[in-house]
Amino acid sequence: MPFKELTIRGYECQNDRAQVEDLERRCKVGPSQSVLDAMGDPMCRIRNSPMCIMLVAEEDNELVGVIQGSIKMVTVHNHPPKDMAKVGYVLGLRVAPYSRRKGIGSSLVQKLEEWFISNDVDYAYVATEKDNHASINLFMNKFGYIKFRTPTILINPVNHHSFPISSNIEIARVKVEKAESLYRNFMGSIEFFPSDIENILRNKLSLGTWVACFKGDSDFGPDGQVPNSWAMLSVWNSGEIFKLRLGKAPPSCLLCTKSWNLIGRIFPCLKLATLPNFFSPFGFYFMYGVYQEGPFSGKLVRALCKFVHNMASKKSEHCKIIVAEVGGRDELNHHVPHWKLLSCPDLWCIKALKNEGTGMFHELTTNTPPKALFVDPREV
Ligand SMILES: CC(C)(COP(=O)(O)OP(=O)(O)OC[C@H]1O[C@@H](n2cnc3c(N)ncnc32)[C@H](O)[C@@H]1OP(=O)(O)O)[C@@H](O)C(=O)NCCC(=O)NCCS
Repeated sequence: MPFKELTIRGYECQNDRAQVEDLERRCKVGPSQSVLDAMGDPMCRIRNSPMCIMLVAEEDNELVGVIQGSIKMVTVHNHPPKDMAKVGYVLGLRVAPYSRRKGIGSSLVQKLEEWFISNDVDYAYVATEKDNHASINLFMNKFGYIKFRTPTILINPVNHHSFPISSNIEIARVKVEKAESLYRNFMGSIEFFPSDIENILRNKLSLGTWVACFKGDSDFGPDGQVPNSWAMLSVWNSGEIFKLRLGKAPPSCLLCTKSWNLIGRIFPCLKLATLPNFFSPFGFYFMYGVYQEGPFSGKLVRALCKFVHNMASKKSEHCKIIVAEVGGRDELNHHVPHWKLLSCPDLWCIKALKNEGTGMFHELTTNTPPKALFVDPREV
């Protein structure tokens, strides 16, 4: 067979869009065989980042692979000079099924890393399903990425009924300026906190930031005072830019879904949440920047989550689930309502792109991970 020449180049919307969309449809990702519908904009997942790129792999004028990357500054403890590092996020790697195991995925990753390096990036990182062996082998065995964090993706279905919220809890929406100052003061030192938090909060996909406290507890003062117990979160409307569809679900999940929906139909008085049909495209709200402080703040987090649920159930017929992603050891795991059956661990892998960061990198990947981790909604 004649040798086909492989070219890696930047994505050109006008010429490549249809082929990239087609490739995305043909590439089922990981054991869940999930497929992403970018609703006409294949760059939708990176467009909101401070710097981004999409590369395509072409063989004889045929598009056979694609990769995306974004760059931003985040908090990384002990990273000189000011606990800040420039990180490059790798996402959306896809190679056409019949072109796999020929080095195309590797060529795309290599070119993306070169772009990161030319932009002075300290660390590249990627998030993958822990059972996606092809992806894990590629990044860890071939490119030397190291397992870094294992946050948990918490998923809760959206029910048609509203959840009641305790009358002694006050929930208020805060302005972007106030939200930014709360985030910088209380979450600024959390690992991977983005330095451009204001861009996230001001983005049209960000539906708002809400705080909760108990009635009668001291208020949020103009000089940064906070109540004894309080919580906050923000909501990102991911369904506005893409939809997801699962190709396969574990048999246990299918069985449970069927039984659960049947019980709900037989006993409507139980008001059970019906599980969404994950096999047809669905959107979701992503709760980010979830923070709690004070002895009774768990209750406040739960109230905020109910509030977000009720908002989704009222405002968006496409929003079928509420998603949050929290650090593996984060206390929030206990307070953010989720279905264990639907929730899953995520695997973040990281690689140092600069030699001088070696000692720091060792520390980053071997120390016990901090409890909390900021998950940027732009990277979901
Ligand atoms: C993951 C994917 C991009 C790999 O693309 P590819 O072009 O086949 O990758 P390469 O040929 O460069 O393979 C590089 C290395 O990855 C690993 N690898 C690739 N496919 C693998 C598989 N099916 N099983 C196990 N390891 C695999 C191997 O270590 C391989 O090196 P080797 O061929 O020398 O053994 C491709 O399988 C794909 O598009 N999968 C669906 C989408 C996806 O899961 N993307 C990753 C999301 S983070």
